[in-house]
Amino acid sequence: MSKDNSANILQEIISHAKEYGFVFPSSEIYDGLGAVYDYGQYGVELKKNIQDYWWRSMVQLHENIVGLDAAIFMHPKTWKASGHVDAFNDPLVDNKDSKKRYRADVLIEEAIVKMEDKITKEVDKAAKKFGETFDKAMFLQTNPNVLRNKEKITATEARFKAALEANDMAELRQIIIDLEIVCPISGTRNWTDVRQFNLMFSTQVGAVADESETIYLRPETAQGIFVNFLNVLNTSRQRIPFGIAQVGKAFRNEVVARQFIFRTREFEQMEMQFFVRPGTEMEWYNKWKETRMAWHKSLGFEESGLKFKDHVKVAHYANAAVDIEFNFPFGYKEIEGIHSRTDFDLTQHQNLSGKKLQYFDPELNESYVPYVIETSIGLNRTILAVLSNSYQNEKLEDGTERVVLKFPPFLAPIKAAILPLVKKDGLPEKAREIMDELKYDHLCFYDEKDSIGKRYRRQDAIGTPFCITVDHDTLTDNKVTIRDRDTMTQERVAISELRRIVGEKVDWRKAGR
Ligand code: GAP
Repeated sequence: MSKDNSANILQEIISHAKEYGFVFPSSEIYDGLGAVYDYGQYGVELKKNIQDYWWRSMVQLHENIVGLDAAIFMHPKTWKASGHVDAFNDPLVDNKDSKKRYRADVLIEEAIVKMEDKITKEVDKAAKKFGETFDKAMFLQTNPNVLRNKEKITATEARFKAALEANDMAELRQIIIDLEIVCPISGTRNWTDVRQFNLMFSTQVGAVADESETIYLRPETAQGIFVNFLNVLNTSRQRIPFGIAQVGKAFRNEVVARQFIFRTREFEQMEMQFFVRPGTEMEWYNKWKETRMAWHKSLGFEESGLKFKDHVKVAHYANAAVDIEFNFPFGYKEIEGIHSRTDFDLTQHQNLSGKKLQYFDPELNESYVPYVIETSIGLNRTILAVLSNSYQNEKLEDGTERVVLKFPPFLAPIKAAILPLVKKDGLPEKAREIMDELKYDHLCFYDEKDSIGKRYRRQDAIGTPFCITVDHDTLTDNKVTIRDRDTMTQERVAISELRRIVGEKVDWRKAGR
């Protein structure tokens, strides 16, 4: 998809997602609730298909990974131990004129991306000017504008990292001032101080006020895995290295929540904690980096639309961290985080709970707190990535246009639409027979309303890989026309072949092929 006029493309995707039952604003009849969304009839299927594919890839295909479903509510000490009570903060800054609030770190990161863009523009300009004789490597090493920008980037990154590490909010503000960052709404540089803001939602358990206790809505699913480490170890016959995977809701009081389902206050994570012997963590970190990148490619994402980005400042629990970024309509942004979490979490829980969270390694004949590699991907962000990657507005040869969602078939909400050509002459009954045959294997859709052309367009718009049309000849030859969503070619096939044809096309083993 072209990323030109990207804001328009995002708007088109948002409208399309609403119009065709994928994503609705939450409680819309009351004008919606900021940064919260509901998934409609096709959105919920797409979400389930992505989640199933992740689960199969992690749990079903790895003998040494098992699943878990921990509760959202956890003992409050969990979040003290994990560091979230004290350190799960965003640095926020307000523009005094527009009264808009921003994440100070995001403002700085975006300013750095702008500097990088300047370098790319210089390169493109020179490549155009010099044509085939252009030596990009040499240009990058010698062009004064490029060198000036590179120097500025390096210096800014160093200051930024130091400020984050020292939790120095005054310095973050000073960087914003020095980079002359303006508020996109007011256009001014009239910034407040930068303040820390904790992202956890809290609530009360217990009916009587003084008996109640403050508990938190989990901001990540990972802690449910850590507190169950011993339970799984003792009951699963797993030995290190092994992993525990979980999919579930997480909640963050995101102050700056924009860009549709990219950043919301309630979202779903698909996380896996992989427990390893201390000292082997970097080997596993690199292995999981590659495995997870390959998984993203298997969703049909272009290689050029994905990249790794090392963290400038690693989280309080990590000794290495990288994001997998996807080229969303608004640019490259994190879709998955991979962290080497050391033994931080288990050690913290061990200290605060007084329970030994250790593993006896029979090969070393010693006990230790395992180290952990975490892979953590946002389900909702993946839905947005799949939607943006699949959304196409095509001009057809006959001059008409169609909007089509070219989902990988194994992710498509509806796998086949069964369409009687007309609503009479026994065609609906025949079509229903086919529906009854296919519906046990796949989610199918029966539609007899409107012209066949309109019905094809409706299915294109929700990404259905196959339209199966029943016509008068079907009654005598037991054949139907099967139309391919992407090529729009039509083929006549025997009804008895349909289960095989549809089954092969939507098989998740075809992922990435
Ligand atoms: N357990 C580690 C952890 O939570 P994270 O980088 O904060 O790490 C992991 O989150 C993933 O969760 C992100 O890569 C993103 O896909 C998703 N995510 C985080 N915050 C989100 C939000 N507010 N809305 C939607 N997805 C979010």
